[in-house]
Amino acid sequence: MSLNIKLNKILIIDFGSQFTQLIARRIRELGVFSEIVSHKKIRNKDIDDSIKGIILSGGPLNVYEINKYSFDKNIIKNGIPVLGICFGHQILSKLNGGKVKQSKHREFGLANIFRRKDSFLIKGLFNNKKLIKVWMSHADQVSKLPKNFDVIASSKNSKFAIVEDKSKKFYGVQFHPEVTHTEKGKKLIKNFIFLICRVRRNWSSKDQKNKLIKDVKLQVENNKVICALSGGVDSSVVAQLLNKAIGKKLYCIFVNTGLLRKNEEKQVIETFKKRLKINLIYVNAEKEFIKKLTNVSDPEKKRKIIGNLFIKIFERYAKKIKNVKFLAQGTLYPDLIESKSVTGSQTSKIKSHHNVGGLPKKMKLELVEPLKFLFKDEVRKLGLELNLSKEIISRHPFPGPGLAIRMPGIITKEKINILKEADHYFIQALKEYGLYHKIWQAYAALLPVKTVGVMGDNRTYEYLCLLRAITSEDGMTADFYEFRKSFIQEISNKIVNSIRGINRVVYDVTSKPPSTIELE
Ligand code: XMP
Repeated sequence: MSLNIKLNKILIIDFGSQFTQLIARRIRELGVFSEIVSHKKIRNKDIDDSIKGIILSGGPLNVYEINKYSFDKNIIKNGIPVLGICFGHQILSKLNGGKVKQSKHREFGLANIFRRKDSFLIKGLFNNKKLIKVWMSHADQVSKLPKNFDVIASSKNSKFAIVEDKSKKFYGVQFHPEVTHTEKGKKLIKNFIFLICRVRRNWSSKDQKNKLIKDVKLQVENNKVICALSGGVDSSVVAQLLNKAIGKKLYCIFVNTGLLRKNEEKQVIETFKKRLKINLIYVNAEKEFIKKLTNVSDPEKKRKIIGNLFIKIFERYAKKIKNVKFLAQGTLYPDLIESKSVTGSQTSKIKSHHNVGGLPKKMKLELVEPLKFLFKDEVRKLGLELNLSKEIISRHPFPGPGLAIRMPGIITKEKINILKEADHYFIQALKEYGLYHKIWQAYAALLPVKTVGVMGDNRTYEYLCLLRAITSEDGMTADFYEFRKSFIQEISNKIVNSIRGINRVVYDVTSKPPSTIELE
């Protein structure tokens, strides 16, 4: 395999820890580029002089189960500083002649460590303190240190909590400095990369912008690129980056499915065509989508119909442009990291996700994926650097199938109009009350039941509106957001009083799991 970006970097060799991405993020937050590779893929021949330090991650393996991993041990013989974390610490010790004690019991949670000896790695960690808290998650541990290794810090249960071979610049920590529970964990990583690896900062949003624009120009040369713009964060950043890099050779296609939020199409045209002067093709396909969705109520069928039609329309317009060589996509780094399979976990399919990213294989276009080494928070910062507004950059996620999956049962134009209004009132209220950015995602949904109400002296028989607002890290798990009673009461009154077709509002208090964020 070859490594991907030609920049000085810290290489993280992944052994399957759930925290590996966090290590990369910590290093990048410190302004240094870092890249993750699976231990199964990286070989000594891939190590070049752009690699200024190596981190061996944690993982669920046992160092003696050598048939379960295939790590090229020559990698640590290049004179490059190495930091082993948890399993990484154990394998580093074993490879240097130490021993690891197998254990059935996990040490999990906070532990106190105390200093035994000074080291660059712990500079500024203890200051006047005797003990600092670190976060442990391990079963096995090093039982005999290799020759030339010294103990820097210990805890009650882990004598070799921090160790070093100063001459070889090998370091091992039994705990996880990358998680926020570890006191001064980021400082320890900072010491490793700046005091021990002596790498220079090369990863600010401005560095990224300049580098990515240069790379896109090199890749695309004089050819045409198409890009599906959804108005979401990732596709917006890709579009603006390419706009800066290749200007009119970029053709953005924005499909109005009729299932967008209120006024969304106007905002997209205003921002991208008028303000940013992006070459934007606006396709109004509302009627086509509604027609295809008539009488369809099965969630998976809805998703498939919308996904397929989207691709068909996109292809139709892409063909009109002629001689297109590239397709730009907003693939992000977490989608790319291949080593998730170390633990062999497989998840069952809950929903067929459709977004503008998975576009059309049969067109045989080459891909331009300028964000594929970035984490979401980096994409947001890059967007600001590219003059996108804070409003675009910090928008809540919106699913590809749009309002269709917030409207269980059959879809009608009337229902879509009612839902657009309810959602608009809800989101506006969140913004007015300063709640929008405290919430990860919020929306209104329209349930396919009618209930009885009374307005004035009249009986009403209308739809039920469900409001959902959640907090989350990444959408994989979620909790409902606890509004004050006065807020939820006000928004409920506003929706029922202002929108014909809704006479009752409920608030969804389920978390994910067992529910999902969207209704379908
Ligand atoms: P669920 O409902 O699976 O949603 O808990 C998790 C996150 O994914 C978004 N979502 C989608 N995003 N295409 C997308 O681009 C889709 O088909 C899709 N379905 C769900 C959802 O809004 C939430 O943020």
